Amino acid sequence: MKVLVTGSSGLIGSEAVTILDGQGHEVWGVDNNQRREFFGPQGDTTWNLERLRQTTRSFHPTAMDIRDRSALADYFRSNRFDLIIHCAAQPSHDRARDIPLVDFDVNAVGTLNLLEATRQHCPEAVFIFMSTNKVYGDAPNEIPLQEMATRWDYARPEDFNGVSEECRIDRTMHSVFGASKVAADIMAQEYGRYYGLKVGVFRGGCLTGEHHSGVQLHGFLSYLVKVAKAGETYTIFGYKGKQVRDQIHSSDVVAAFLEFAANPRPGEVYNLGGGRANSASILECIAKVEALTHRKLGWRYDEAARKGDHICYISDLARFRSHYPNWKLNWSLDRILERMVNSV
Ligand SMILES: NC(=O)c1ccc[n+]([C@@H]2O[C@H](COP(=O)([O-])OP(=O)(O)OC[C@H]3O[C@@H](n4cnc5c(N)ncnc54)[C@H](O)[C@@H]3O)[C@@H](O)[C@H]2O)c1
Repeated sequence: MKVLVTGSSGLIGSEAVTILDGQGHEVWGVDNNQRREFFGPQGDTTWNLERLRQTTRSFHPTAMDIRDRSALADYFRSNRFDLIIHCAAQPSHDRARDIPLVDFDVNAVGTLNLLEATRQHCPEAVFIFMSTNKVYGDAPNEIPLQEMATRWDYARPEDFNGVSEECRIDRTMHSVFGASKVAADIMAQEYGRYYGLKVGVFRGGCLTGEHHSGVQLHGFLSYLVKVAKAGETYTIFGYKGKQVRDQIHSSDVVAAFLEFAANPRPGEVYNLGGGRANSASILECIAKVEALTHRKLGWRYDEAARKGDHICYISDLARFRSHYPNWKLNWSLDRILERMVNSV
C-alpha cells in the first residue's frame, strides 16, 4: 500500500509510520513540527523525525502544513494513497483557550482539507481520523461516581465498563479544543455516510507511549515520567488527584487502525482507550512511577480543576471489539510504564 500519515512526527503518527514501514508499505508523512509552536522546545518533535529517518526503509516525510489547502491538493494530485491515517492536530484543550482560531483551523479545517483531497483524488482510500473523548465534553461527569481511597470510580454496576459511543456530544462543555474536534469528527462521519468514503473515526482516551514529546499541557503519562526522571515537581489540578484516565499504548492504537483498514465500515465511530484494565488515577500512576524509579516523586496540588476535565473516564471498547474481534490490547499499564521509565 501507499500510505499517508499526518502528524507523522507525533506519538500516534510515528508509531503508524514504524509499523507500516515495517510491514513493507510505502509511507508518506506530513508534519511541520507545529507541536513546537504550540508547546515550545519541550514539544519539539525533531528527535522523533530523526529516529524515523534512521529506522525506516521507505518513509518519505515532508514539512507541509495541513492548513495549506492548495499545497495538499498538489500533493494528493501527485500521490495516489490507499490509506490515510490522520493524526496531525492541536491536541491540548488548555492550549486551545489562547489560540481558538489556530486550533479550529488546524483541527477542523485541516481535517476537512484532507477529507476533501481524499474525495477528489483517491476516493477508494481508507481514511482514519483520530478524534478524542473530549467530543463528549463534560457529559461523562454526569455519571454517578463514588470516591475511593485513591480514585474516583463509577457508582453503578451498569457503568463499570465505561463510556460508550452512545454518550451525547452536544449540550455539554467541551473546551475549545473539544469543540473543534467535534466539528472534525462530524465532518469525517459525513464523508463516510454521505459521500461513502471509507472513513473510520476513533475517539481516543489517553494515548501514550515512549515516543511522545510530553509537555504539561499534553501527554499526561509521558510528562509525568519525564518529571519523575528529572527530579522535578508535578502539579495536580483538582479532583484530589483521583481523576481517572484509561491508558493505551500507541502500538495498540495503530493495530486497531489496521483492523479497520482491512475491513472498513464507512462512517463508523469507535471509542478507543485502554479500557477498565488500563485505567488509573493520577495518584495511582504516581505510585507506580515511584515504584519503578525507586524514589519519591515531588508533587504539588492546585485546587482548580482544568475546565471541562473528566473526573473518571474509561473507554467502553465493546463496540470496536464486537466489530473487530481479532484486536486485543497487548500493552498493560504496568508494561507501558516500565517501557517509558526505561527509555531515554
Ligand atoms: N495523546 C492523547 O492522549 C490523545 C488523546 C485523544 C486523542 N488524541 C488525538 O490523537 C491525535 C494524535 O495525537 P498525538 O498524541 O500523537 O499528538 P502529537 O502532538 O504527538 O502529534 C501530532 C503531530 O501533528 C503535527 N501537527 C500539528 N499541526 C500540524 C499542521 N497544521 N500541519 C502538519 N502537522 C501538524 C505536530 O507537529 C505533531 O507532531 C490527535 O488528533 C489528538 O487530538 C490524542
